[in-house]
Amino acid sequence: MVPHHIAIVMDGNGRWATRRLLPRLAGHRQGMESLRRCIRACAERGVAVLTVFAFSSENWNRPAEEVSGLMDLLAGALTREVPQLVADGVRVHFVGAREGLSDKVRQGLAQAEQATAANSRLILNICFNYGGRWDIAQAAARLAQQGEAITEASLGRALALAHVPDPDLLIRTGGELRLSNFLLWQAAYTELYFCDTLWPDFDEAALDEALADYVRRERRFGRTSEQLAQGAQPEAV
Ligand code: IPE
Ligand code: IPE
Ligand code: MG
Repeated sequence: MVPHHIAIVMDGNGRWATRRLLPRLAGHRQGMESLRRCIRACAERGVAVLTVFAFSSENWNRPAEEVSGLMDLLAGALTREVPQLVADGVRVHFVGAREGLSDKVRQGLAQAEQATAANSRLILNICFNYGGRWDIAQAAARLAQQGEAITEASLGRALALAHVPDPDLLIRTGGELRLSNFLLWQAAYTELYFCDTLWPDFDEAALDEALADYVRRERRFGRTSEQLAQGAQPEAV
């Protein structure tokens, strides 16, 4: 079965460029191409939700030149790519802290969300200036402000990704075996898939390998294999 929701840590752009003696930003540009290809491939395969990690809360620690290059790349892509996203039936959601982003980037994000709001073939969540800890903290702060009790359900509803179910499959390219503060709450029962392929090289064949691996997993959600064989529904709760 094709996962309903795929999340991706798009890692390895810098190394892709460095290996070619190119500036890191060239890797990020190529990474954008890879994302375009991946969006199309996911839509074609019937994936309903794609959530990508584009810029983490911690990526502000990078050299100023790389950070501003990434901001420009995003702002440019948002205006350039919107017509194609609309044509492909992709609905864009920005997920992350808007504070700290320039007016230009903020406006671009809001416009892309607005322009694609009527689409429903694929939901694309772009995690930008996002961190899993930020998300949990902002959700808890909001509940506290409203005087609401903090439960798993209320917190889940206050999180930035409340509009989609938890990811079924999380892919990290680039060979690192860590989450780097991505989807800490939502990945509780997500199947994890790590590959060495650098993000700019992650093509349809690499995606299909991840999907084939996912199909072989047994999602038990705490139950036993025997219970599943007897027809228990493999659901989280
Ligand atoms: C991921 O690629 C993209 C962002 C973090 C914005 P990297 O830039 O982390 O690439 P490597 O890990 O240095 O190769
Ligand atoms: C994670 O990659 C963030 C994104 C892909 C946007 P990093 O390259 O920033 O992660 P670390 O620093 O290796 O953990
Ligand atoms: Mg990296």
